Amino acid sequence: MAAPDMTALPGILESRPPEPNELLPLLTLIQGRWRCLPEEALKAVSKRLAIPLARVYAVASFYKALSFAPKGERLVQVCCGTACHLKGSQAVVGALEKSLGVKLGGTRGDGKVTLEPVNCVGACALAPVVMLDGAVRGKVTGAAAAGLAV
Ligand code: FES
Repeated sequence: MAAPDMTALPGILESRPPEPNELLPLLTLIQGRWRCLPEEALKAVSKRLAIPLARVYAVASFYKALSFAPKGERLVQVCCGTACHLKGSQAVVGALEKSLGVKLGGTRGDGKVTLEPVNCVGACALAPVVMLDGAVRGKVTGAAAAGLAV
């Protein structure tokens, strides 16, 4: 696999003040740009913010929205919180795994889509909930999930 094009990195780093409390915003920007956290970017963040690299990695591994492995171009998240579970999220997961061709927690081989579980997203009245690239879709049935075009 080719190394990612990092030409945008200096601009991203300079878009935020060089202060330690900018760690999470910078990691979020990097995740958004490369759909993962390249090692080169983490080292650059450590240097720019004068934060030990180990702390950068600790924060990067704490947040589920941040990932060391590249996520797919499209992100499908299935809520596995209690309300969604009771309303049939398991059937939704099964339908999505079949229609998208990827197991929950994985990224399809072509890099087009990642299917991952999330905890309650605060839309329990709409259970079961699926998030497509961050947009909430409520009352998703297994049949609707099977027809989700990604
Ligand atoms: S449990 Fe799924 S949105 Fe709350």
